[in-house]
Amino acid sequence: QTVQVLRGSCVTVPCSFDIPSKYEGNLNEQCEAKWVDKDKRNPQLTDTNAVTGDLTKKNCTTTFSNMQPDHSNTYYFRLDCSSSLRETFTTAAVTLTVTDDLPSPTLTPSTLEVNDGDSMNLTCSAPVPCPSHPPNLTWTPTLGYSQETLQENQDKTLVKTSVLNFNASYLHDGENISCTSVYKKQDG
Ligand SMILES: *[C@@H]1O[C@H](CO)[C@@H](O)[C@H](O)[C@H]1NC(C)=O
Ligand SMILES: *[C@@H]1O[C@H](CO)[C@@H](O)[C@H](O)[C@H]1NC(C)=O
Ligand SMILES: *[C@@H]1O[C@H](CO)[C@@H](O)[C@H](O)[C@H]1NC(C)=O
Ligand SMILES: *[C@@H]1O[C@H](CO)[C@@H](O)[C@H](O)[C@H]1NC(C)=O
Ligand SMILES: *[C@@H]1O[C@H](CO)[C@@H](O)[C@H](O)[C@H]1NC(C)=O
Repeated sequence: QTVQVLRGSCVTVPCSFDIPSKYEGNLNEQCEAKWVDKDKRNPQLTDTNAVTGDLTKKNCTTTFSNMQPDHSNTYYFRLDCSSSLRETFTTAAVTLTVTDDLPSPTLTPSTLEVNDGDSMNLTCSAPVPCPSHPPNLTWTPTLGYSQETLQENQDKTLVKTSVLNFNASYLHDGENISCTSVYKKQDG
């Protein structure tokens, strides 16, 4: 329902819809996806070259590129089939917030109490609003091996996770371990 977006980058909004069965026949290649803003300030999302999934398969997943701060708004999906099938889905909305920074990654657990020699895992996760440009996750210091995966949240948005595995040592006592996420913008 809310997605934080990096200025100048893309965002993929996972989306699916349903219609009463009597309108199924109106669902064809002529149908268009439109995203209308809630308070009709009308920021031009059309200038983001939106790419939408297969509407005939009720897939309205849309990727907007080159997002700018004035695109920040709450949007409804609108299905426009230039027939009797024209509908704005006002029961669900997505709020896009375009900023220069994305939130810091989350690192778990926040404190570790371990014994010398224990094998340990730390997990770092960062949102992936623009799937073509996932962030790099780096650990400081590099204590061991890390394994990265791209996972889907329950709401179908993506998250990149890095699991750091290391053998605890008394030498690490009191040490701070941090994880940094670096995003490359779509526009460089
Ligand atoms: C919906 O369309 C998007 C974009 O083409 C695609 O990546 C995604 O896999 C599709 N989802 C389903 C459930 O087919
Ligand atoms: C750490 O993660 C690896 C890979 O997921 C797993 O095989 C291992 O059992 C985990 N170790 C601990 C101590 O949880
Ligand atoms: C941890 O210790 C085990 C056993 O000595 C070794 O096989 C493993 O490679 C070590 N793991 C790391 C991350 O150094
Ligand atoms: C670890 O971070 C905490 C909080 O930022 C700080 O108070 C502490 O001095 C740091 N410890 C070391 C060893 O750098
Ligand atoms: C992530 O790291 C890879 C390999 O080091 C590099 O090619 C890529 O440009 C980096 N991406 C970002 C977003 O820094």
